[in-house]
Amino acid sequence: MLRASQGTALHRTLKATARQFGGAACVRGVHTPPAVGQPLPHTHPHLFPIDFTRGWQAELGGGVATDHLTPGIPAAEYEQRRRNLMDRLPTGSVVVLMGGRIKYMSRNIFYKFRQESNFWYLTGLEEPDAALVMVKNSSRRGYAMTLFVAPRQASKELWDGPTCGLDGAVEVFGADHAEPNDPSVLLHVLKKTLASAEHLYVDMPTQATVPRLSQRTQRFSLHDFLAPPSPTGFDLFARKTDFDNVVRLLSDRRNTHSLECEMDVLRSRKSANELRVMRHAGAISGAAMTEVMRVVRPQLAESEAQAVFEYECARRGAARQAYVPVFASGRNALMIHYVRNDCLIGDQQVLSVDAGCEFAGYASDITRTMPTAADGRFTPAQRDIYEVLLRVLKGCTALATEHQGYSLSELHRRSVEMLNSELRALGFSLSYGVLERTLYPHYLSHWLGIDLHDTSTVERSTRVKEGMVFTIEPGLYIPDDPAFPKEYRGIGMRVEDDVAVGATEPYVLSADAPKEVVDIEAVCSGRLPRFV
Ligand code: GLY
Ligand code: MN
Ligand code: MN
Repeated sequence: MLRASQGTALHRTLKATARQFGGAACVRGVHTPPAVGQPLPHTHPHLFPIDFTRGWQAELGGGVATDHLTPGIPAAEYEQRRRNLMDRLPTGSVVVLMGGRIKYMSRNIFYKFRQESNFWYLTGLEEPDAALVMVKNSSRRGYAMTLFVAPRQASKELWDGPTCGLDGAVEVFGADHAEPNDPSVLLHVLKKTLASAEHLYVDMPTQATVPRLSQRTQRFSLHDFLAPPSPTGFDLFARKTDFDNVVRLLSDRRNTHSLECEMDVLRSRKSANELRVMRHAGAISGAAMTEVMRVVRPQLAESEAQAVFEYECARRGAARQAYVPVFASGRNALMIHYVRNDCLIGDQQVLSVDAGCEFAGYASDITRTMPTAADGRFTPAQRDIYEVLLRVLKGCTALATEHQGYSLSELHRRSVEMLNSELRALGFSLSYGVLERTLYPHYLSHWLGIDLHDTSTVERSTRVKEGMVFTIEPGLYIPDDPAFPKEYRGIGMRVEDDVAVGATEPYVLSADAPKEVVDIEAVCSGRLPRFV
């Protein structure tokens, strides 16, 4: 075990990085935090601009945010998040949280790693197979934090580069204690910790994995039996009895509570730093969407438009797409989750693009619908439907303030009412239920944050509060059905913005993606010059 020695690890890390990059002369003898693999201000200064809008120019004079643990989020904010969680919990509480695992496409061919969202929110650590145990106590910090991480191994680092190691867990990520992520060590620590705990906050898995007994059926399912175990080892207990002991220890307690519900409450209101990061994620996706509008034309492959979007996000620093994007041309846009993106774009159609990058841990989620005609203009029918959706989007956005205090369910009802009267004005005769069953079968909104569909335990009936972020995404999908006016049949469209709730004003985080007809047509026709 490694312990933090003097002061908090957080303090020493911040002091060391601040001295090294804060403009003051480097102080002799100051301990530099170790390289831990993931970017830090002292190893990757270009990824830590004080001002994101200056982006890659940070090193050239924009300034480096030396106190940030992940781009945009200071180490002190991670400490505050843990305190906020522990402050919410009763005396005698213990939190147990497992980090994410590497996922495999086939055999040993892995996907790019993404940390489990709650684990990332509390630690900022982006390494697989880690675990976090926090014990509420009466220390000045208010809790003791133990991180379980893979010990440094020279032979492994030769292949994979630096890892966090036990020293990094303490010095960089602020743990009081670091332990190797060895199942028997975890079992030992849990036994000791839980013996005196009154409340355990943990999320038991909803899906069984080998060799866990399915919790639902209490039998080994064929799926469990056939699914290959993950090759990274952390849940491969050498003896099944050890594994079963841990599961029993965690699940047999009377005072066991959902950690997810507590985390969702904390995560549902974003800090000023989080909003800045999310605004930048929206700006990157907005710029990428503009580039798609610039290239869209008849005979372009949907997949090429997708490639343009992904390239434009990556070159602006996005780590990945926040979800598999939709690039749906023509009638493909009637399928709400069309993700094959393997058709050629036709003439006089619309291309509906639902895409958003993840930047510095936060998702963006934008839908824009654009004309595919060579002259870059919507047909009159396309324009009618688009303008209906735009009015509904704007009408609902104007309601997204704490002062007005709507809930997502109420906003959805408003969107249904608005669409109903708008469509009737266009000549639709809508029999009961047809709007919500056929033409607009999805919900207006979902919370947005680290996850695309964020904080799912926060009810839609919750009144929106300052700092909450959600999407507003009205859509219409009009099938080839004589029940609907002929000129509108076969049109599928959606328009989606990311909105942060203010006290008296909404803030549109995705404002950089053109959405007025005149702006979309100007970009699509090439009349609007390129800015960046
Ligand atoms: N792109 C998925 C969604 O809008 O929820
Ligand atoms: Mn969405
Ligand atoms: Mn979307």
